[in-house]
Amino acid sequence: MTKIEKIVLSYSGGLDTSIILKWLQETYGCEVVTFTADLGQGEELEPARAKAEMSGVKDIRIVDLREEFVSDFVFPMLRANALYEGQYLLGSSIARPLIAKHLVGIAREVGAHAVAHGATGKGNDQVRFELAVNALDPSITIIAPWRQWNIRSRMQLLEYAEKHHIPVPSDKRGEAPFSIDANLLHTSTEGKILENPAEVVPDHVYQRTVDPVDAPDTPEIITIGFERGDPVSVNGKSMTPAALLTELNGLGGRHGIGRLDLVENRFIGMKSRGIYETPGGTILLAAHRGIESITLDRAAAHLKDEIMPRYAELIYNGFWFAPEREMLQALIDQSQTFVSGEVMVRLYKGSASVISRTSPLSLYSADLVTFEESAIAYDHHDAEGFIRLNGLRLRSWAARNSR
Ligand code: ARG
Repeated sequence: MTKIEKIVLSYSGGLDTSIILKWLQETYGCEVVTFTADLGQGEELEPARAKAEMSGVKDIRIVDLREEFVSDFVFPMLRANALYEGQYLLGSSIARPLIAKHLVGIAREVGAHAVAHGATGKGNDQVRFELAVNALDPSITIIAPWRQWNIRSRMQLLEYAEKHHIPVPSDKRGEAPFSIDANLLHTSTEGKILENPAEVVPDHVYQRTVDPVDAPDTPEIITIGFERGDPVSVNGKSMTPAALLTELNGLGGRHGIGRLDLVENRFIGMKSRGIYETPGGTILLAAHRGIESITLDRAAAHLKDEIMPRYAELIYNGFWFAPEREMLQALIDQSQTFVSGEVMVRLYKGSASVISRTSPLSLYSADLVTFEESAIAYDHHDAEGFIRLNGLRLRSWAARNSR
């Protein structure tokens, strides 16, 4: 085994990764470079710099990845209307490949041959980080302290922190905090009482959405503009991807939109229960389906819906940088060529409802569908023959059954 001389650590500045930082320095006796990604988690990142400095880190990287996150990961995924197990908008899953990409990039830049992450040995995130690193640079060694050290519990973790003079936030001494993962797309909360799926979640668990019961009594109507499948404006105002999602998070949060209490199947085999808040993403999913409803051909739309669960599962399982995900993405992206126009969405007490859609590229033909007299050549006799032929086998089947 070659000696590890430098490690790039994915570092949040929180308790876990602070302990991991110390542990790596002690265990490997080498330089550790920290990488902290700003994904719009809404946390101050400067404290992370201060903490890394205090631990003797020389090379501290804090990178604002918000625009890249939304434009290159969230929006491409949204083009597919991706939902895992019918409900989860994949807010944590889609952030991991981006973090891994930058971990690998920094490792190359600083000449490190190893990267480390703070994901535990029971979750999906370890799989996602490591599959992404494998796909991007197979020569890189991955260190997963949670699977390597002999710290087995929260208590032992706190003892280690104490011993090494790592400051422990006061609220973390008494009651252990929830496990929270946040970025511009969502906040995910797991652990503690949530681990019992029978337990009704208290409202204080929610961080970025109000209870729909307490949301404004008057609905708010917004217009979202789409170009080639991606949202580009809100109420006529053009915005960058990250600014647009931030704006919709604010609107959705105020109206209690995008809460989800879910029991899901993790890739590694167990079921887990989590609370998700995806306000902007929930609005965008509804709006995107709205604009697709008038701009996509039926067979194209249905094909997209058929592959969607497969595509979502690939992202959930950590196969973002895999050939089959890229193949599906090419199909999805091509389908979006004409997905442009505007959608009005009504935000009201937890719901985001499409109430209007328009597009210069619409396939919708009022003339064709109207109950009134229509100018377009549509021969009602065609429908008669169409039904007669489709019914042929059903008539044979029914006749046989009654014999
Ligand atoms: N269960 C979600 C997923 O696998 C979220 C995982 C991270 N969330 C957390 N609270 N630690 O995508």
